[in-house]
Order: sequence, then structure tokens, then C-alpha cells
Amino acid sequence: MRGAPAVSVVAGTRMSALTVDYRNLLAIDEDEDGVDPERLTGDLRSRFRVAHRDVERARRSGSMGFLDLPRAAQPAAHIRRVAAGLRGRFDDFVVLGIGGSALGTRTLRDALAAGDPNRGASGAGGPHPRLHVADNIDPHSIGTLLDRLDMRRTFFNVVSKSGSTTETLAQYLVVAERLAREVGPDRTREHLLFTTDPERGPLRALAEAAGIPTLPVPGNVGGRFSVLSAVGLFPAAAAGLDVTAVLRGAGRMERRCRTDELTRNPAGVVATLLYRADVECGQRVHVFMPYCDRLRSFALWVQQLWGESLGKAAGLDGGPAGTGPTPLPAAGATDQHSLLQLFMEGPADKVVCFVTVGAADDPLPIGKAPASLPALEFPEGHTLNHLIAVEYAATAAALRMAGRPNLTVRLARLDAEALGELILLFQAATVYAGYLYGVDPLTQPGVELGKRYVHGLLGRPGYHPPRMEEANHPWQV
Ligand code: PA5
Repeated sequence: MRGAPAVSVVAGTRMSALTVDYRNLLAIDEDEDGVDPERLTGDLRSRFRVAHRDVERARRSGSMGFLDLPRAAQPAAHIRRVAAGLRGRFDDFVVLGIGGSALGTRTLRDALAAGDPNRGASGAGGPHPRLHVADNIDPHSIGTLLDRLDMRRTFFNVVSKSGSTTETLAQYLVVAERLAREVGPDRTREHLLFTTDPERGPLRALAEAAGIPTLPVPGNVGGRFSVLSAVGLFPAAAAGLDVTAVLRGAGRMERRCRTDELTRNPAGVVATLLYRADVECGQRVHVFMPYCDRLRSFALWVQQLWGESLGKAAGLDGGPAGTGPTPLPAAGATDQHSLLQLFMEGPADKVVCFVTVGAADDPLPIGKAPASLPALEFPEGHTLNHLIAVEYAATAAALRMAGRPNLTVRLARLDAEALGELILLFQAATVYAGYLYGVDPLTQPGVELGKRYVHGLLGRPGYHPPRMEEANHPWQV
């Protein structure tokens, strides 16, 4: 891969804000490394067709519920109504959840709430509540957050598909006790809503027994694929974000992904080229690197989606698989001064997926440099928005010159619709990649043993703790 300028080979439509530029993964000139473009209409196209057919078959059998969420207008309207009912009554809205029950909500909030990500949007009818996502059980974080809140003006959304996740239930029990103390046991339920499975699970049973309102996570939508259900939409709507536009964008991407023609399906391109980089070139580390601070949480969301979906011991046929590229979130331009040296000169085991954003509301002009600082004259007259675009372009080109492949997901702008497109793009790419690798992207059997050990260590009947060495064993210094 030498000497070629980065040019765009684009899969896009006029209406869409999103294009996928995969030029820096191709061998356009004869002396370059990379994918021979003819393979896009040859064997890679055929492989993607099979994966696309398998996903569509799974969809028809009802297991790919996330693909239908953008068109679920009625549930979305209900979610918006419930959220609107909170306006004016609460200053703070706290999500208690973990993994897929938290990362998507944080992605929506950080990408769309301008300025302070904790501040709800304002508008007619007064400010919306600030949105907090408490996704850990670190007593310091939870304690500090709760100490800052006025319980009388705070709403808690407990989010758990299974309704049985230890961390989330523990958070809830801490909060329930505090609510009972500070607002009174009779008024606790006015501060609560559970988002959980419509039929099953301890949280569902508790809600029914205690009269706590609920919203459903559709049975065929799993945790990390649930951001466009009540899991992400309810908190986002409560914070005043435009969830209708998010769904509109996601719907547009879902339609773009209906084709099994590789070069016209943006998620197909991302999945097939990252998969190929792994299995043919040993590029097993997949770096997700937005050049936009508002998409840092998005990179963490993709990390979970890609990692938990594709890291599998067993294949769809029941045989050994041992698959799983390692997703690595990074941030441009910040990590040019942290990870880029490794990407350029370290092991050639990485492929970088950039995400860039075109227009900025305020591009921030760069001021005039003093005469005493000639070294700073050249950025003058430009904007920070132009500078970050240039930094991305330079990094992508430098990686290509060093034989390090990369592709770019470009957003013309970052608004609710574009974010919806981006979310659906990566969800669809993940399930295509699952079928390309020959594994089920919707399961996560590997996290079960640790969960069972937690129950055992907490003394739950029927569960066993792991065999632990005594505290003063000799193998420590
Ligand atoms: O993607 C997944 O299924 C997981 O990451 C879950 O979201 C996570 O374990 C939390 O599960 P639950 O929503 O059941 O509490």
C-alpha cells in the first residue's frame, strides 16, 4: 500500500448524511497492498450475499427485532408521552443500568446534548431534566452522584432486559432505600420506572407487585441492540432529545441495508472489509476512532457491540470458532499523541475505522498569532473545525503510506438523524460480521460463569463461589 492519495469510494445516497469511504483498504494501483477491487464484485460479494441472506432469514424468524425498531411508531409515541409527563416535575433523570442497558443512552446523550452532556435540553415548557447514566457500582461514583441530587426532584429509570442483573438490582436497592427515607415510602413509586422484559424477570415481578410503571424491551431485542427501544429512547426523550429524528435516520439506514449488493450496502462494506482484514491479514485489532468528542461514548458503545457479539468460542454449527477481533476505542485528534505511534510502527495487526463529522455549528476561527510566534502563523485564518478535518486526513493518509489500512465513516453533520443512521449502520454491520465469522452475534454465553460466581460469592443458595486461594497465599508480592 504505497503512494496513493486517499480518494473516496463511496456507498451513499443523496438523502443520507452518511458515507463509507473504504479507499484506504483497497489496492487501487498494482504495487499496493490491500483488497483487489475486483473482489468486491467477486468472492467478497458472494460471501456477503450469504451473510445477508442469513441475517434476513433470522429476521423473518423474529430474532433480529432491532432492525424493526425504527418503524415501531406506536411504541415510540407512547415512550414520548410517558417522557413528556415528567417535564417540570424533575430536575434530574438517572438511568440505573449496565452494558447494553447504559452505553447506548450515554451515546445519545453525549452526541446530541450540546455543551454540558449532563444538562437536559431547554425549550418551551421549561428545561428538561439533566440526564445521568450510572453504569457502575463503584460506591464512590454512586455515592457522589446521589449526594448531589435532591431526591424530591429526581427520577430513576431502572433498565435491565433480564431484570436480574446484580449490579443494576443493587443500584436500585440503594436508591429505593434513599427514596423511601427522603420522599417517603408511599411516594417512592412516583420517582421510578422500570424498563425491562415485557413478561419475565424479577424486575417485572417487582413492578407488578409494587405498582411501579414500566416500559417494555421487546423480547426479540437484546441488551446491546436495544438503544432504539425504550432503553435509550425514554431517557433521551425525557432529556428533550429528538428521538423521532433518531428513528428516522435509523430507518433510512435500515432501508439502505436491505440490498445484498455489497458495494451498495454501507454496513455490508464495514462488516466484510473488517472481517477480511482480520481473517486474511491478521488485523485482529479493530480501532474505532471518531474525530469528534461528542462521539467518544459512541466508540465505547461500538466496543461493546463488536466485542460481545463477535467474541465466541462456538460457531453456529456447534463446532469450535474462537473468533473475535479486539475492538479498541480511540479519539482523534487526542490519540494522535498517544496511540498513533503504535498504529504506525507497532505490530501490523490493526485496522482503523475513523468516524468524521463535516459541518460544525460553530467552527471556531483560529486567532491571529503574535509576530513573535512565527511557528504559529500557518493555522491562522483557519478554524478548529478545518484543523480537525485536516488532522484526520493527514492521519488516514500517513497510515496508508505506512501500509496500515483504514476506512472512514463520514457524517455530513452530527444531528439526531445522522446519529440514528450511524447507530443502525454499526448494529447491522455487527450481525453481518457475526454471520461472516459463522457465530451467533446475539448471544453472550461467556459472561455467564462470572455472573454465577458473583451469586456464589454473595452466598446465593444453589450457586457456588470460584475456588479462591487463601488471602495470604505465597504467590503475591
Ligand atoms: O448486550 C447484552 O446483552 C449485555 O451487555 C447486557 O446489556 C448487560 O449484561 C445488562 O443486562 P440487562 O439489561 O439484562 O441488565
